[in-house]
Order: sequence, then C-alpha cells, then structure tokens
Amino acid sequence: MDQYFKSYEELDVHQLMLSDKTRVLAYKTAIFNLKHKFQDKVVMDVGAGSGILSIFCAEAGAKKVYAVEASILAKNIKQVVIENKKQNKVDVIHSKVEEIHPDSLEKVDIIVSEWMGFHLVHEGMLDSVLFARDHFLQEDGLLFPSVAKLYASPCQLPTMYKFWDDICGVSMRCIGEEYRKIKSVKPEVLLINQDDLLAEGKLLVWLDLKCISLEELNLLGGEDYVSVCKKNGRYQGMCIWFAVEFPDGSELSTGPQDKATHWKQTAVVLPTDIEVTKHEPIAYKLELKRDLSNSRHYNMELSMLDTEEVEHDVPCGCHMTKCIVTKAYIENNENVLNEVIKERNE
Ligand SMILES: C[S@@+](CC[C@H](N)C(=O)[O-])C[C@H]1O[C@@H](n2cnc3c(N)ncnc32)[C@H](O)[C@@H]1O
Ligand SMILES: [Zn+2]
Repeated sequence: MDQYFKSYEELDVHQLMLSDKTRVLAYKTAIFNLKHKFQDKVVMDVGAGSGILSIFCAEAGAKKVYAVEASILAKNIKQVVIENKKQNKVDVIHSKVEEIHPDSLEKVDIIVSEWMGFHLVHEGMLDSVLFARDHFLQEDGLLFPSVAKLYASPCQLPTMYKFWDDICGVSMRCIGEEYRKIKSVKPEVLLINQDDLLAEGKLLVWLDLKCISLEELNLLGGEDYVSVCKKNGRYQGMCIWFAVEFPDGSELSTGPQDKATHWKQTAVVLPTDIEVTKHEPIAYKLELKRDLSNSRHYNMELSMLDTEEVEHDVPCGCHMTKCIVTKAYIENNENVLNEVIKERNE
C-alpha cells in the first residue's frame, strides 16, 4: 500500500477532518438541499474515509451508495454503516477506485467526494475523482462538488516579519531574515488574517469538474495577473486559497475572510518585503506545476512582473495613468448611455 494511503490509516487525520465542521456541514447542506436528486439514486463516494458522506447520501434517500476506500479504514466504514443501520443501502468497496473493474458496477447517478488538499490540488486526489467520473458516472450525472476555484492576493505576513522585530524588547531581525529565506523555498500553510490581505482575491483557476481533463491539471494558473492594493501596507507574500461549489449553488470557501478550516491558507513567502500604497498595482505570475517525480505534488512558482508590461483588467482601479483614463472613459460612456436610455423611456 503506498505511503499516501497509509497516512489515511491514522484516526487522528479523520478526527481532524471530521472536527472541521465548516467542511462537513458544507457537504451535508449541499446534499440535503438537493435531497430530491438523491431519491432512489445510485451514488459513489470516492475516498469515503470514515464513511461520513456515504451516510449523508443514504439518509438523503439514495437507493445505493458505493463507499470506495483504499485504506484499511474501509473496515471501519462497515462498522459505521451497521451502527447507523444503513447496511441495506451502503456497499463498502475496499479498493482504489482505479482498481475497480468498470463492468463490475452499475453506472452511478452521483459522485460525492472530498478530495481537496492544501492549495486545492496538493495530494492529487482529483485525478481519482476524474477517473471515477470517466468510468462510472452516467452521462447526465452530478458531481459534489462540481466546480473548484483557486484565488490569490498579495498579503502581509506578520508572523514571518513583525514577529522578529521585538521579542520582549530584543530585536531579532537578523534571525527573521534567515527564517524567511528558509520559508520562501516552499509554500507555507497558515491562517492569514483578513486584515492582512492587501487586495481582493484574484481568481486564478476555475475548474469545471464535469469536463476538465487530467492533462489540464498538469499546469494551473500560469497567466499574468495584476492585483490592485486596497490599502497601504507591506507586500510580504502571496496568499492562496480555494473554494468549491456544489450543484445547489452553495460554496465551501477557505479564504481569510471565511470561517477557518483545517486547510487554512497557503502563503508563498517573500524573502524581503516591499512597501505598497493604496491603488498600487502588483503584477505577478503564479504557476502550479505538477511534479514529474511525484504526481501528488505540485511545484508553485511566483514571479514578479513589470506592471508597465502586463495587461491590466478593464476597468482597473490602479493609480497608473492608462487605467485612470480608461476608467474615466468607460464611466463617461456609461453616463451618456444612461442619459440616452432615460430620454428614450421618457
Ligand atoms: C480527504 S479524505 C476524505 C474522507 C471522507 N470522505 C470525509 O469526508 O471525511 C480522502 C479519503 O480518500 C481515500 N482515497 C484517496 N484516493 C483514493 C482512491 N484513488 N481510491 C479510493 N480511496 C481513495 C483516502 O484513503 C482518504 O481516506
Ligand atoms: Zn491598472
């Protein structure tokens, strides 16, 4: 059994996930909001873990739920199913979903899965959900969740910077510098205060899980982006978070402005900070590239770009002359258009 599945044998990991009520209730709410879609339907829970989502689906009215779990937790699911009197509805399959022969199961109407890792794709479990989609889901079937999104915003990281300025009256900036050098090599998972976000979240990646291909997951982001500072501050890193949407339109969002989840946020730490002012544009490229030697891992690369050379949004709220002029032009045209509509209606 590979190390990845071994890590899910730890009950502590499941306790951590089950304690994350924002996570569990987001699934429960979405499933129960669409109870009518579950009536007498066949469901597959990809990576059932402790079996929580399979039980929700059975309670929502599913006729049959295949609880697929590769780790030895499959045996615990069997007990949970009995404890909750769902033996006639939930079939536990102790296997990797990829190793189930497609002809051995009927096609399912719904796939439910909690596959998200840190910064969405870490762990690479989405690959398994896409495999299940392609081999077991009916043409018009539903996916819970159905859409995944990745956001980023420049931010301040006081725990990386301010912390070292004054430890009970002693300045340790030199250690802070070394600490940041170490931390800037790989992404850091931590909770970021929403007051430390310097801009609105920029949507970097939007994945329609119904049609996205495996190849499209090899490189995420990779375009040029411009974020506009909403306040003065110190640009010390890039904060990254994700959200997923369910077919009822509800959302599980893991940003600094949301209720904290066990995923926290991910930061790319800058070794040295930059002072920024309100309306200042920050141009960058953020790429998440699948690691060729370990497909469950992604390498994240943040590059700083020249704000003069990168295209800005239209309209853009930044202080550069070209954006002020464009914005004024659009607003002026909107006013003229509104006048015309008003005159026509009179
Ligand atoms: C993030 S946990 C979610 C567990 C449970 N669904 C929940 O919401 O609490 C993912 C689970 O999927 C299982 N898993 C991951 N990839 C799998 C695969 N390809 N086939 C079967 N199980 C898989 C892991 O062993 C783990 O228990
Ligand atoms: Zn601009």
